[in-house]
This record gives sequence, C-alpha cells and structure tokens, in this order.
Amino acid sequence: MLETILVTGGAGFIGSNFVLNWLANERSALVNLDALTYAGNLQNLASIDGDSRYSFVHGDIGDASLVQDLFRKHQPRAIVHFAAESHVDRSIHGPADFIRTNVLGTFQLLETAREYWKNLSGERRERFRFLHVSTDEVYGSLGPKDPAFCETTAYAPNSPYSASKAGSDHLVRAYHHTYGLPTLITNCSNNYGPRQFPEKLIPLMIINALNGKALPVYGDGMNVRDWLYVEDHCEAIRTVLERGRPGETYNIGGRSEMANIDVVKTICSVLATERPGRDYASLITYVKDRPGHDRRYAIDSRKIESELGWRPRQTFQTGIRSTVRWYLGNDDWIQNVTSGAYQKWISVNYATRG
Ligand code: NAD
Ligand code: DAU
Repeated sequence: MLETILVTGGAGFIGSNFVLNWLANERSALVNLDALTYAGNLQNLASIDGDSRYSFVHGDIGDASLVQDLFRKHQPRAIVHFAAESHVDRSIHGPADFIRTNVLGTFQLLETAREYWKNLSGERRERFRFLHVSTDEVYGSLGPKDPAFCETTAYAPNSPYSASKAGSDHLVRAYHHTYGLPTLITNCSNNYGPRQFPEKLIPLMIINALNGKALPVYGDGMNVRDWLYVEDHCEAIRTVLERGRPGETYNIGGRSEMANIDVVKTICSVLATERPGRDYASLITYVKDRPGHDRRYAIDSRKIESELGWRPRQTFQTGIRSTVRWYLGNDDWIQNVTSGAYQKWISVNYATRG
C-alpha cells in the first residue's frame, strides 16, 4: 500500500501550494481535509484533479468521528496541519472562529492523532509525525534594533489571531511533553506567492493596483515583516517532516525584512514593467492603522539552516516578480475569489479607515 500523509487546510493559500509541491516531489499519497471556509478554494487544486495519489475530503478538523475515520481508512504516516483562521484583521472583527478552529480544532486533532499513534507499533509508530504549522506572530512585536525571533523567544501574542495560534502551539508542545506524541512545530514569517487570498497585503495591493483602486497602507507604512516565498516555505516543511527532531520547533524566515511601504512601492514598480500604462504608485493611500498593530517581525532561521540544511532560494525581488506574473496570468481565479462575500469583507475592513 502506498504511504499516505494527511494534510489539513490544503485548499487554502499555503496548504494548496504544499499539496502541489508534495505531489510533484514525493512518491506517497496525500489526503486533504478542508472545511472550505471563505479562504478555501478547490480551484487552487484543479491541476491535480484525477491524480490517483490525491483525495479531497470536505470536513472540519473539529469533527472527531470524521477524523477518526480518516485515520482508520488511510493509516497516515504523518499529519501536516495548516487548517486555521489566518487573517489578523478578521480576528479583530470576529475572534470566535479563531478560537473554535485554531484552539479547539487543533485540540481535537491532537486527541485523535494521539489515540491513533498510541495503537501503532514498530516502525510505523517510530516514524509517525504531527507537524503543526504556526506563525512568528506568537512571539509578539520587535523594536527596530531587537534581535530576530529565535525558537526560545518568549511567547507574547498581541492579536486574537496570534493568541489563538499561541494556544494551539502550547497544546502541541504539551502533547509531546506529556504523551510523547512525535510533534514538530514550525513558526514562519509572512508568506507570499501564487494563490494567496486577496485579503492579505500583497495580493490585495496587486489586485487593487490593476483595478486602479487605492492602495491602503495602514498607519505610517513602517511596520516591518520578513517575507517568505511560499514555495520556499513548502520545501522547509518537507525538510522538517523528513529530518526534524520530534518535540522541536523550527523557525522559518525569508531573509527579507521590509517595511510595508517598501513592499507596496516594489509591487508598483514591478507592475510598471509587467503591465505598463498606469502610475501605480500614485494610488498609495495612508489609512487608519490596525488596532494593536505589531511593529516588526523578524526571524532567526539559523536552527533550520544549520541542523537541516534548508535555506530560502528566492529573494524578495525574484519572488515578487513571479507572484505579480502569477496574478497577471490568472484573471479567472481573481474574478472568482473577489465576487460576493469578498466585497462585503472589503467594505467591513476599509469603510472606517477613511
Ligand atoms: P488560509 O486562510 O489561506 O487557509 C486556511 C485553510 O484552512 C482554508 O482552506 C480553510 O478552508 C481551511 N480551514 C479553516 N478552518 C477549518 C476547519 N475548521 N477545518 C478544516 N479546514 C479549515 O491560510 P494560510 O495563509 O494558507 O495559512 C496556513 C497556515 O499557516 C495557518 O495555520 C496559518 O496560521 C499559518 N501561517 C500563515 C502565514 C501566512 O503568511 N499566510 C504565515 C505564518 C503561518
Ligand atoms: O507573520 C506571519 C503572519 O503573516 C501569518 O501568521 C498570518 O496568517 C498572515 O496573515 C500574516 O499576518 P499579517 O498581519 O502580517 O499579514 P497581512 O497581509 O494582513 O498584513 C501585512 C502587513 O501589511 C501588516 O503590517 C498590515 C499591513 N497591511 C495589511 C493590509 C491587508 C496594510 O498596510 N494594508 C492592508 O490593506
């Protein structure tokens, strides 16, 4: 029987890139469990329709009997857990879903995985892994000269989103410490690349610019993020799954710290060469800041680089050009995700920023 991994949230941005990356590079099969919230999109995975190593299951990570059935049926050798509510602004407007999925959903998944793993024996028990995909936001906010986050930085989450991710990280850690479940945690920085839902900074700016709409920069635009190309992140996760030590955490960053305003200006200048004809930078508009907006995130990736030999391949300059080109070449995808409910979110989030 072909070995199988179970992925949660594989119809979202990073999850779908991971599913495609996995099937292109690995031999084993993959089952994708996704609830298809507003952020889940099966169009992301259309290219693997009909691939016999891939199967999709529509369902919630909190549905214990469904997840138990999946474990029984597929006997996975690992679970890679992406499913989450992931947008900070949405967590400010409505935190309940974040607690439900990120905390309670992860708890339920851990319980089911523990029960399954407990009954494994020999090599299968030895090799099983629960890989939890988390974020650098759990570490809080840095000052301009503070050292970057490393794996031992104290947790100090500041938004309902990051608090819910911190809660899930703590549960994963506890399941290793208490029950011996062979867990791995990855905390990564801001991802960008193809198939990112346009509520997040980079795709929102690309799509607004193409439509001649304002480019809404929060506050003074000097908040700093470390940008990681999604393909590099997928490679890092495969590396950690293969060679990471159970119970350990690995920080993953892109070596690309940038202020938001510089990110937006770079997008404008790439668009000026890829789709000339408009003064994109003139659309930049400073708007009211996000409440509790973390000033700076930065990742110290030395552990994964030195222990596991992973490094990001893309610089921001190369990654952003590929990203812009992907959006320019996927107008259908943009039309589909920006209809209906998306417009409602845009009016909720931006109407009061004035
Ligand atoms: P996303 O919002 O694009 O996708 C989330 C996916 O999870 C969607 O397909 C959604 O349908 C699914 N989902 C949500 N609730 C579910 C539930 N209860 N049961 C099953 N499926 C459910 O998120 P993303 O940006 O791809 O992020 C993936 C993971 O990586 C998240 O855990 C996030 O916290 C983490 N992360 C993201 C970034 C980033 O920059 N995007 C950075 C660091 C960490
Ligand atoms: O750091 C990792 C995190 O990165 C992940 O855990 C989250 O899931 C992911 O959403 C992301 O969080 P951010 O809040 O950093 O991402 P976002 O794209 O929402 O915002 C990036 C920066 O850009 C942030 O400083 C806020 C700013 N911003 C965002 C939007 C949507 C703007 O200035 N204008 C905007 O319209």
